[in-house]
Amino acid sequence: MCQSDQQASKKAPKVATGDRAILPEGAKTIPVFIMGKQYEVPETLTIMKAMEFAGFKFLRGAGCRGGICGACPTVYRMAGDYKLHFGLACQTVVEANMYLAQIPFFPANRATYSIEEIGGLPEAIHALYPELFRCVACNQCTKACPMDVDVLGYISALKQGNIEKAARLSFDCIQCGLCASRCMGEIPQYHAAQLARRVFGRYILPQAEHLKVRVAAIESGKYDAMLDDLAAMSKEDLEKVYVEREREPDFAEIGSWQPKETRYL
Ligand code: SF4
Ligand code: SF4
Ligand code: FES
Repeated sequence: MCQSDQQASKKAPKVATGDRAILPEGAKTIPVFIMGKQYEVPETLTIMKAMEFAGFKFLRGAGCRGGICGACPTVYRMAGDYKLHFGLACQTVVEANMYLAQIPFFPANRATYSIEEIGGLPEAIHALYPELFRCVACNQCTKACPMDVDVLGYISALKQGNIEKAARLSFDCIQCGLCASRCMGEIPQYHAAQLARRVFGRYILPQAEHLKVRVAAIESGKYDAMLDDLAAMSKEDLEKVYVEREREPDFAEIGSWQPKETRYL
């Protein structure tokens, strides 16, 4: 390289190109294996960011990037060890010599039903998911869960007909599907648990009186004019309304704050 080229290259700004991030100065890289191929990635990245650094683009298998949506389940193994590990690509930080595979979709059976018609008895869940009784209590599902949900616990509760226990135990489930991917009974645990939570909410929990009042107000058309106004606004006006909206102070005492505009309460 001639001297003028060297000077130009020194001055050239570091910019990201395409899907690749530019390595920060001094960052240490480690080897990871993505779909069996080796890449060098910065050691501080999550699996998802490391894959993007390596040039992969997530068309599926990424959603919230915050550990909530369940779109990015990952299975990995460390070199020299037989043990499989499970995690979320957007939450788990890479380690040297990880062998990584993404499982953004698992073809688990999902029953079709109308929550209004099936009723609130355990037999309804058993009829929709008879495979629950194929569980052999191996606990592989619990070991695979990145949310530390007691999957075997809620499956057992469902088999015993304890809908409330199943609903409460499965509350943190993010529907990632890793449990189903490990199940020798081919049970779609997370779909059955979601049904349990729906039945619990619809038939077992006491109805919220204030919610009934609000639904009645909506059905009476109280908010129709406001919604029509919003729907007719330009994007810029909508943004202005959003930015200037009245907001509850972060540390307001519970129940002490009311907006000045009370028409829509
Ligand atoms: S229970 Fe299953 S689907 Fe739900 S978060 Fe755990 S592994 Fe994922
Ligand atoms: S992996 Fe399947 S068979 Fe094993 S405990 Fe979980 S639900 Fe039961
Ligand atoms: S992208 Fe939503 S949980 Fe990872």
